[in-house]
Amino acid sequence: MPISLPARSLALSFALSGSLLGTGARAQNPVATFTVQVNQPGAPIAKTMYGLFFEDINFAADGGLYPELVKNKSFETDDRLLGWKAIRGAAALTDYSIITQNPISATNRNFLRLTAATASPDAGLLNEGFRGMGVKAGAQYTFSVYLRRGPGNVQGLNVTLEEPGQGGPGPEAPASGRTLAQARISGLTGSWQKYEVVLKPTATAAKARLKLTLDGAGTLDLDVVSLYPQDTWQNRQNGLRPDLVQLLKDMNPGFLRFPGGCIVEGRTLAQRYQWKETIGDVAARVPLVNRWNTEFLHKFTPDYYQSFGLGFYEYFQLSEDIGAEPVPILNVGMACQFNSAELAPISRAGGPSAPADHNHAADPTLDTFIQDALDLIEFANGPASSPWGARRVAMGHAQPFNLKFIGIGNEQWGPQYLERYEPFAKAVKAKYPNINIVSSAGPAPDGDLFDKASQRLRELKAEVIDEHYYAKPEWFRDNVHRYDNYPTTGTKIFAGEYAAQSVAIGSPDNKNNWNCALSEAAFMTGLERNADKVIMASYAPLFAHVDAWQWTPDMIWFDNLKSYGTPNYYVQKMYSTNPGTTMLPVQRDGGAANGADNLFSSAVADDKTGEIILKLVNYSAQARPVAINLAGVKKPGKTGRATVLASADLEAVNSLDQPQNLSPQDATFKVSSSKVTYTLAPYSFTVLRIPGKR
Ligand code: AHR
Repeated sequence: MPISLPARSLALSFALSGSLLGTGARAQNPVATFTVQVNQPGAPIAKTMYGLFFEDINFAADGGLYPELVKNKSFETDDRLLGWKAIRGAAALTDYSIITQNPISATNRNFLRLTAATASPDAGLLNEGFRGMGVKAGAQYTFSVYLRRGPGNVQGLNVTLEEPGQGGPGPEAPASGRTLAQARISGLTGSWQKYEVVLKPTATAAKARLKLTLDGAGTLDLDVVSLYPQDTWQNRQNGLRPDLVQLLKDMNPGFLRFPGGCIVEGRTLAQRYQWKETIGDVAARVPLVNRWNTEFLHKFTPDYYQSFGLGFYEYFQLSEDIGAEPVPILNVGMACQFNSAELAPISRAGGPSAPADHNHAADPTLDTFIQDALDLIEFANGPASSPWGARRVAMGHAQPFNLKFIGIGNEQWGPQYLERYEPFAKAVKAKYPNINIVSSAGPAPDGDLFDKASQRLRELKAEVIDEHYYAKPEWFRDNVHRYDNYPTTGTKIFAGEYAAQSVAIGSPDNKNNWNCALSEAAFMTGLERNADKVIMASYAPLFAHVDAWQWTPDMIWFDNLKSYGTPNYYVQKMYSTNPGTTMLPVQRDGGAANGADNLFSSAVADDKTGEIILKLVNYSAQARPVAINLAGVKKPGKTGRATVLASADLEAVNSLDQPQNLSPQDATFKVSSSKVTYTLAPYSFTVLRIPGKR
């Protein structure tokens, strides 16, 4: 439900007036005192503390971050014509077939053959894009295609970008819409050749489509049809959608987890994510079904595939661009336990463990998965003289990506996981002792399987355990003390997937509302207070297309042209852009616990800027005056900076039309001594930066 503007101005006025707030509020709410023990600093905050979880769910990759506009560009999906529609041009088009003889390459086996008996301006085909194609007036789009002329007299290919007309594409005469851009390709020959033209739309359209028609009668073969925006992140070829990357970079993320998520596992082992299939020539990457396509009956998406245009090289490059440590999560020889739960045998009875072409083996053993992990580390970090390092260098990155983490298994559970994790982790450590390994505690944050996995992984001296929690908002507020009694030594925690669910896990009615975001903010004070135990945390999932999602809530939503951060995004951003460098203890008056009276807090020092940073959550409908005592602070400055995210409406959400409905407001406030007063707005999350050294 949209929030009214006055609520936002209210938040700002609280932040600005600080201690000058009217006495009425004070009379109702006694001042809560927070003592920050600046002179008793704790452990350093890990640079990885607040990061990102990326999974290709909700059209996060194709149709999202990966901006190729043509769906099924190489005719390689199981339904070879997925995304394409033939247009017959008053019966001129007599045949359109998928052919495999003499393809452009052995890895790109299928192509389309069009035959027109007579010339017609409408004999050809249409591509629908990913819920349409988003194009901008005046921007440039590179159209490319491989063509081969067959018998007959086809002189060229007409390329039209258009907005569909009323009535949709009929096979005889498509309801032609407004033409946005047009070009013609000529100079065809009898052998495969790549052609390129640039299209410049005359108008902006969110749901355009591509029309390709034959110029003349005869036969023409087509493959690898691409329409790619030139406006990409860093203007790279095969680059990413800039507005979405910018939203990520703005967060100052500590790490980027990839590729998931259950997608790592696949519904079956054959459908697992295999990183080696995602690198090299983009045209040669073979698409794989996306496991989220038909997972939810309420959001059936049978046309969902992974083109792998955004593959592992692009992932490492993105991590580097946004300053995040890459954290790849790899399959541990287990298909998704919510689906087939298929297992790779730990070893092959009596036989060799990994056949030569092990990646395509029908029944890979665990060795295949281990080898993939070792090879990935070599791809990321190895020298040009190593086989996989050479592949990275050939793709254009001579320097290593400096990979430091690797996850073994996604959200696995039970003895089958632990049996596979142990030899896997040993093999990785034997070859790469400096790589930090992330292990899994399963899908639930508690219970028998969670306890057993956590205990065993600690016995095995696991470095980092990945915990997941998708729960109601109240769970997040009630569990703010979750980590208080975790051991400070040994295994560290990665809160690898979490999000408050306003209705229930998997419900299509879940909302990214303020109640969820504020509850997450409250919970995160508990992460920060335990930053000597929790070294990484990421909200999940990251992205969702408004017309093509399967799972909600999600941190960032977009359509084909626009995007926005949810209130949850802003909460994450307020943490990740204010991470600090050193933990500081905070105590409440009278020894009240964190969260007492619906007030939540944590504090860190930023030794680089010489500031004390407080995170304060007021989960109540009243304004809350607070006193902050900076015990032992040196040189407190005179002006503090406040960032406030607040709304009296717990149902408030952002949207494409109102992207900033709920967004942080900045203000300054006076600091006259080591004792600071401030008033927290109703239902607010506030970050205070106060100059002062420890
Ligand atoms: O974030 C969505 C899914 O939730 C992830 O793929 C999986 O790891 C978890 O169950």
